[in-house]
Amino acid sequence: MTADLGPTIAAAKAALRRKLPNYAAVFADMAAEVGREAEEIAARHKDGDPVVPRIDYADIVSNSVPADAVAAIRRHGCVVVRGVFPRAQAEAWDAELLDYVQRNHYIEKAKAKGNLDKYFSQLKSGKPQIYGIYWSCPQIQARQAESMATARAWLNRLWIWEKDGQEFFNPDRNYNYADRIRQREPGDATLGLSPHVDGGSVERWIDPSFHHVYRHVLSGDWRAHNPWDGEGRTETREIPSPAVCRMFRTYQGWTALTEQGPRDGTLQLVPTVNAMTYMLLRALQDDVPEAELCGAAAGRAMRINEQYHAPLLRALVPVPKVQPGDTVWWHPDLVHAVEDENHGKGYSSVIYIGAAPDCAKNRAFQELQKAAFLAGKSCPDFAPEDYEVDFAGRATEADLTPLGRKQMGFDAW
Ligand SMILES: [Fe+2]
Repeated sequence: MTADLGPTIAAAKAALRRKLPNYAAVFADMAAEVGREAEEIAARHKDGDPVVPRIDYADIVSNSVPADAVAAIRRHGCVVVRGVFPRAQAEAWDAELLDYVQRNHYIEKAKAKGNLDKYFSQLKSGKPQIYGIYWSCPQIQARQAESMATARAWLNRLWIWEKDGQEFFNPDRNYNYADRIRQREPGDATLGLSPHVDGGSVERWIDPSFHHVYRHVLSGDWRAHNPWDGEGRTETREIPSPAVCRMFRTYQGWTALTEQGPRDGTLQLVPTVNAMTYMLLRALQDDVPEAELCGAAAGRAMRINEQYHAPLLRALVPVPKVQPGDTVWWHPDLVHAVEDENHGKGYSSVIYIGAAPDCAKNRAFQELQKAAFLAGKSCPDFAPEDYEVDFAGRATEADLTPLGRKQMGFDAW
């Protein structure tokens, strides 16, 4: 795929350089600052600071999240929101999901079928026990929960969602993007996921819709780039591919069903919103072959590697220990990875739930997804494995609450 796009990439890079003739100086300036930031993150983490901000769901409800925590979330692009669900609720979901997977023989069926999803195939570590399960009752219940809606609305409001009378998205209404689950056995030593960014790779350089999102970076005024500005974000055009998210997500995220922390096979983040700025300008430099973008390939997760992005990788830190019912959120431009091995004593399990606020792009996708839900097929963004079509205990329309019906596009808001 990259080979076919070679001339397009070369032409796009040439055009971007013509608009930014001092691309080397701009990159040097930015890289120095991002490098300092990465070193600071690494040093803080070494000293025992988890870096990833943590807030309590109760503080969201009482509108008393500390201002310094909000500033830290904006800077680091990620947050742990503790206690969105009671521990007992999350543990009950965990037990039910394990049962759902086992009694429907998911593992055996998945092994027989082989892995159809090539999205992560370029990553050195590419199979972190993520299951193609979208429609279990626990997933539906967690997605449509009132507390989840409250948390997502608060998080969405950290974005600029309207400007000059134009609304980019509605922060208080979210669609339920049907993502998957992770169930990682204790001692599981299958490889995790190498550092990457989702939501588009080469299109960030070759498609004008992405150029608008990153207009300040690509014009050299990289300090003016606000990663929380919704302008243009809901109008990006991704290259169609299984597993590239077609919804606009203000955050990727997951809900913990088990206790998990560093070395338990969990998430790692490069907690700086400047990582994408670095990656965009890095690919324009003279040491990168003309038809290449530092390893980015169409329809694949965007890779971060030692050769081109070493300073960013210094700042890769694990998410601090979380409890069942806690949630983790990260900005869609954030570099993330999954640890290679679960050294923990128990399962490391999560339900992936991000935030996909109401906008035309997300409404359009919800129509496709609604049909998949009714048929029990895979979410249309992923490989059409369709495991759950005949699964016993799969959620149906009758399991949707009034809020869930809106979040799934069955009822108008
Ligand atoms: Fe990812």
